[in-house]
This record gives sequence, C-alpha cells and structure tokens, in this order.
Amino acid sequence: MILAIETSCDDTCAAVIRPDGRKALSNVVHTQTEHARYGGVVPEVASRAHLERLDGVIEKALADAGTDLEGITGVAVTVRPGLIGALLVGVAAAKGIAYARRLPLVPVNHLEGHVAAAYLAQPDLEPPFVALIASGGHTALYSVNGEGMSLLGETLDDAAGEALDKGARMLGLGFPGGPEISRAAANGDPARHEFPVGLRDKNNLDFSFSGLKTSLLYKLKALDEDGAREELPHLAAGYEHAVVEALSRKLLRAAEAGDAQTVVVAGGVAANGLLRRTLEEECGRRGLRLVIPPPGLCTDNAAMIGAAAPLSRAVPFPEYLTLNARSV
Ligand code: KG4
Ligand code: ZN
Repeated sequence: MILAIETSCDDTCAAVIRPDGRKALSNVVHTQTEHARYGGVVPEVASRAHLERLDGVIEKALADAGTDLEGITGVAVTVRPGLIGALLVGVAAAKGIAYARRLPLVPVNHLEGHVAAAYLAQPDLEPPFVALIASGGHTALYSVNGEGMSLLGETLDDAAGEALDKGARMLGLGFPGGPEISRAAANGDPARHEFPVGLRDKNNLDFSFSGLKTSLLYKLKALDEDGAREELPHLAAGYEHAVVEALSRKLLRAAEAGDAQTVVVAGGVAANGLLRRTLEEECGRRGLRLVIPPPGLCTDNAAMIGAAAPLSRAVPFPEYLTLNARSV
C-alpha cells in the first residue's frame, strides 16, 4: 500500500492507495477554512495550517484504510507545482516517513495527479485520451498517451477557477467562488446578460478569462446596490455559463482535432454541475467516452497523487533526501 500526501495549496490531504494506483483505500481531506475571510489563499497561513494538521490527517488516512505505517510500502508526495511553503510541509513529512522505514519515495506532479483521478473513477481507463485540467491555478488541455502528457493549449491569463473566484468576490459572494457562483446562479437566466467567451472563435486550443472578468466589473458599475442584488442570480448564471462554454468548446475541439475517443476532465472546476451536464450531453451526442471523477476526486486530494504514483519514477532510499519542492 502506498501512502500519498498532497499539500500544494489550501487542502491538507493524505490517502492510502493500492500500488497499481487504481483503488483508494482511504482519502482524507482537511480543507483550510482560515482563508475564507481573506477571499483567497494566503500562502503563509496555508503553510502553518498544513504544519498543524498534516500529522492528524495522515493518521486518519492510515486508520481509515485499516493499517498503520508498518503496512506502507512506499510514499508518494506532490512536489510541484504549488505554493512553495505549502509543498515543503508535505515533502518534509513524506521524506521523514520514507526515511524512517527505508521506503522509496515517489515525487508526483500535481497536474498529473489531477488527471490520474480519472483512473480511480474508472479503473479500466487507459490512454490515449484528451484531458482538460481546470482548477484554481491551471487551465490547460493535454494529449495523454502511454509516454505522458503533452500540452495542447492553455489559458493566456487567469485559470478558470481563478476567474470564478474573482467573479464571486466581485459579486460579494464567498470563497471558493466556484460553488458559490453555482449556488447563486441556480434560479438565474444565463441569457439575460451577455458575457464574452474568451477566444471562442479563434481556431486554437487556448483560453482567456480576463475579458469576462472585466465585463462583469462594468456590468456591476452600471448597477446600484439594489439593482446588483436583484440581478445577482442572472449575473452569476451568465458568468458561470461563459466559463463552462469556453471550457467545453475547447475540449470538444481538442478531441475532434486529435481524433480522440475519450476525454477526461479534472481539477476543482470539474466539480461544476453545469460543466458536467453540458459535457455529458455533448459527448453523448458525439459518441465520446467522458470521464469526470466524482467531485471529491476533482478538487485537491491525495488519492489522485497516489493514482499518479505508478506513472512517476520512484526514487530509492536514500537518494530522495536531496529532493526539493518547486513552485512551478
Ligand atoms: O483543483 P483545486 O481544488 O485546487 C487547485 O489546484 O487550484 O481547484 C480549486 C478551484 C477553485 O477556484 C474553486 O472555485 C473551483 O476549483 N471549484 C469549482 C467548484 N468546486 C471548486 N468551480 C466550479 N464549480 C464547483 N462546484
Ligand atoms: Zn489542484
């Protein structure tokens, strides 16, 4: 059994995974609530919270899997990309546990982890496929084959999750913004306000969300307080719709261009209900196999890091003691 650790942002996570990476025996996520009042993740606060929580989270992951450190044969940990101080807490813990028991350590790329969540959702899944990662820090399309992932296109400015978080903040909603916008949009009419879908008609696989943000800013400036309150559901619906439209359009274009039979969607924004429904319908119509992990495996978690471990090179004891985290 592999112990996996993830601390790249504001979730303190540990999981126990089968060595083939296709089944999680436990998956514990402690979401740091300390950041909500700042409207975004504060790196120093994140590092400290990881430090305080990680031991307990690891103990719970072991207990939930019905094991202890004796039952662990390897340790996997996110080493990049992410907040450097936050990553370091996980990497130091992973090194300590691996070193104490002379176990190998598997350094995992967080983005490969997000994609690997698809293997937990559907254990028979094999490459090739096209993958969309849409999270708070990244929005990119990849072609995935047996060798690894190659970039097809990415956002030129904000990530999709970042655009949702910033939009939510402008609308006076809480953090993280994605679920807040969905909730506010529930009874809204997405067609009432027109929002731009960045690079919609550009024949490429890139994204842009800065125009969308600016558009919301101007719409809000034109409204007084009462007007903004009345229009909130419609503004939220229009904004969410524009993000979903950009993501689904480019993903389907990438699948068509690469003649893909299967598409995978990962990252926190893949938890979005409208995106899931839209893609289910569009992929169904095109005969594409769609794999979107359940919401709990889309947002940051350690099970996905364990799922990516078989795809990464295990570093033997004690070579990994010099291993470092990287922010990019
Ligand atoms: O993958 P993730 O948990 O962390 C990063 O690696 O960034 O993604 C977090 C992002 C946040 O921007 C959050 O607003 C967004 O995912 N998110 C959602 C939903 N749940 C989380 N966006 C839309 N709908 C959701 N249900
Ligand atoms: Zn993530």
